[in-house]
Amino acid sequence: MNSLQLFQSYFQKEPSITSSANGRINLIGEHTDYNNGFVLPTLISQSIEVSIKPRDDEQIVCISNKFGELSSKIAASNDGTWLDFVRGAIYYIKKLSPTLKGIDIAVSSTIPNGSGLSSSAALEISLLRAFAQLQSLAIVPKEMAKIGQQIEHQFVGTQCGIMDQMVSACGVFGQAIFLDCESLQTKSLPLFPNHTFIVIHSGSTRKLSQGSYNERKLETMMASKTLNVPSLRYASLEQIKLIEDPTIRRRVKHIISENNRVIQATSCLEKNDAKQFGELMNFSHQSMRDDYEISSDELNKIVESASNNGALGARLTGAGFGGCVIVLSENEKAELITQSILSQCTQAYLVTTISGKLNS
Ligand code: GLA
Repeated sequence: MNSLQLFQSYFQKEPSITSSANGRINLIGEHTDYNNGFVLPTLISQSIEVSIKPRDDEQIVCISNKFGELSSKIAASNDGTWLDFVRGAIYYIKKLSPTLKGIDIAVSSTIPNGSGLSSSAALEISLLRAFAQLQSLAIVPKEMAKIGQQIEHQFVGTQCGIMDQMVSACGVFGQAIFLDCESLQTKSLPLFPNHTFIVIHSGSTRKLSQGSYNERKLETMMASKTLNVPSLRYASLEQIKLIEDPTIRRRVKHIISENNRVIQATSCLEKNDAKQFGELMNFSHQSMRDDYEISSDELNKIVESASNNGALGARLTGAGFGGCVIVLSENEKAELITQSILSQCTQAYLVTTISGKLNS
């Protein structure tokens, strides 16, 4: 059921506005965004859709196809439910347009939660789009992305970077987006016409991810202080020997090498060199597994199986600690590789495939 039907059946009236935002996969460049580095995400077709109608009181009444019914006052404190996103979005829109009051909302999602496919950013951006339209506010996509990130920081408690909100707000389906997370400059690039990214869910959702995510952020912030650079974007591999703690040294190595891989992968897209892109994906996964330590047995097994079955490369995508792997394959082999992986990793399932074929 889409959000419009859900709204009609639950509230027994018509919504004023329906809007949506897509989830994403990150092709390469993990945990580099909050270190002011580079990322290369692309949208997936799965999305979150919201239908809304303003109320005359200060109440939020929500119905979701995934989480059922929830309601609260606009000003209620954070409670760890998805209402935190709604209260956050209302809070920031109210700052720009104080007449916004309570809201009836229906939310429908086709993005699996806790999968590293950015359902949170899609919820933030779809809500912000709907509220901005309701209040006749012209918020440019980059600003909307920054507000989405503030919702995460202030209302949800994840100290995330800007990648997910930027691609959800500014991305174009079928194109990769190279994002410089310091300047927020973007460059759209076509995907490989003869190759497919297969998105496979490991079957395990992210465990303890919020705490570990914030911990990685803190570790890398402290490392940039030790190295006396504004952010790890400005650190070089030669400098890592200056870090005494071996764990922190490995964290920093991941960030520096991953930034380099994003630059190289971007030029692979430009040159249509899927083979080298795949190799970079494999190096990226190793780095996340061994140095940044954000992988899991299930994710590693899928990556291994992909490589044994003829994929050009595979890596976990998103924050890690569970969620999805993306596999790069020639278009003709994609189906066979998918079937082989799924037969070897019985918990895993196919989420989607993305190919530049349609755009070529
Ligand atoms: C999550 C965060 C992003 C980014 C990725 C890891 O998706 O929301 O900001 O840090 O993890 O690359």
